[in-house]
Formats: sequence, C-alpha cells, structure tokens
Amino acid sequence: MKIITLMGSSKKKGNTATILGWVEEHLQAMGHEVKSIYLHSKEINPCLGCAKCKEDPTQVACIRNDDGLEILKKMTQADLTLFASPLYFWGLTSPTKAIMDRSYSLVTNYHKPDHASLVEGRRQALLVTGGSDFTDNAEPAFTAYNRLVNFYKGKSAGELYVKCTVPDALDLDVKNQAVTFAEKIAG
Ligand SMILES: Cc1cc2nc3c(=O)[nH]c(=O)nc-3n(C[C@H](O)[C@H](O)[C@H](O)COP(=O)(O)O)c2cc1C
Repeated sequence: MKIITLMGSSKKKGNTATILGWVEEHLQAMGHEVKSIYLHSKEINPCLGCAKCKEDPTQVACIRNDDGLEILKKMTQADLTLFASPLYFWGLTSPTKAIMDRSYSLVTNYHKPDHASLVEGRRQALLVTGGSDFTDNAEPAFTAYNRLVNFYKGKSAGELYVKCTVPDALDLDVKNQAVTFAEKIAG
C-alpha cells in the first residue's frame, strides 16, 4: 500500500512526531511504502474558495501553485493518507487545516447526485495528540475529520487520540496503541 503521512506539528521530536514515528515504523515493517511529509517545511497557502478547481474535475485543478498542490496530487496517488496533528484550541494545527481546506479541489458536486472525488474509495486516518482528555476537548476535530472523509467519498481507516504530557513520558502502552493503530489503518 502507498501511504502518505502529513505531520502537522512544528516539533520534530514532539508527542505527535514520536507517536507518528512508531506508526510509520510499523507500517514499513508490514511492507508498506510510507512517504512522510513535514507540513511546517512546506508552503501551503490558504484556500481562496475561488472554485476554479471545479472547472476540471478530472485533475487537481487548484490554481495555487505551491507545495500544497504537490501534496494534494500525492493524496490522489496514495492508498492511504494519514493526518497527524496536535490539538490546538480544539482543532488541528494551521498547516494541517490549510491542506484540508485546499483539498476542496479534490471534490466536485458535493451534496449532489454526481458528487465525485479524486480520492474516492481511498483510505484516510487521523492521529491527534493533546494535553487534556478527549471528552469536551477533541470531539470537534474528529467530527470535522469524519465529515471531510464523507466529502472525499473516502474510507475512514482509523482514528487515534493520545493524551500526552512530554515526549519522554510516552511509554510502551502508547507505543502499543501506535502499533495497533498502524495495523488497523492498513488492514
Ligand atoms: C497553541 C496551543 C493550543 C493547544 N490547545 C489544546 C487544546 O485545545 N486541547 C488539548 O488537549 N491540548 C492543547 N494543546 C496541547 C497540545 O495539543 C499537546 O501538548 C500536544 O501533544 C503537543 O504536540 P507536539 O509535541 O507534537 O507539538 C495546545 C498547545 C498549544 C501550544
């Protein structure tokens, strides 16, 4: 399986990167091809909402010619896209949100009978870390993600939320959760 992971934390050795690293390690050990993208190093301009992308539903027709466009094209080539982000104020981080907004250009005719998507049938998954419990905190991010998967006509392959303190405190239990998650999303 071709997998891309979109890492939305600025911290390369933070909670999200550490857990994502364990997920990627296991996916690779399972024989999958994993391409990891560190979103903070990329130029991902905001979606303009111009709808020019709707003029050609056969390709990623976003008019913003930046790294975001390349990432969107990679999403159309991948069997699975894994979004990974810390929770920032009950949502995902800005670069994660930016690429999600730009994925507007992957879909045409949402809510209409001819709803079409360049990632139809592909898998998506979400890994989120946060400082507080899931309840009364992380639900909005997961709700929005699930709606996005419907927008994509995709398949929600799995979701994982991990309450964290500091990366050094991430223990074997979390590593096991990462391994189980990897098996689920690629299964
Ligand atoms: C600006 C900011 C906003 C945050 N908002 C939340 C929040 O709404 N809910 C939560 O549980 N944690 C929140 N946190 C904590 C982070 O999500 C948490 O520490 C996360 O594991 C950091 O991941 P990282 O090490 O990969 O950057 C916030 C942290 C920052 C810096």
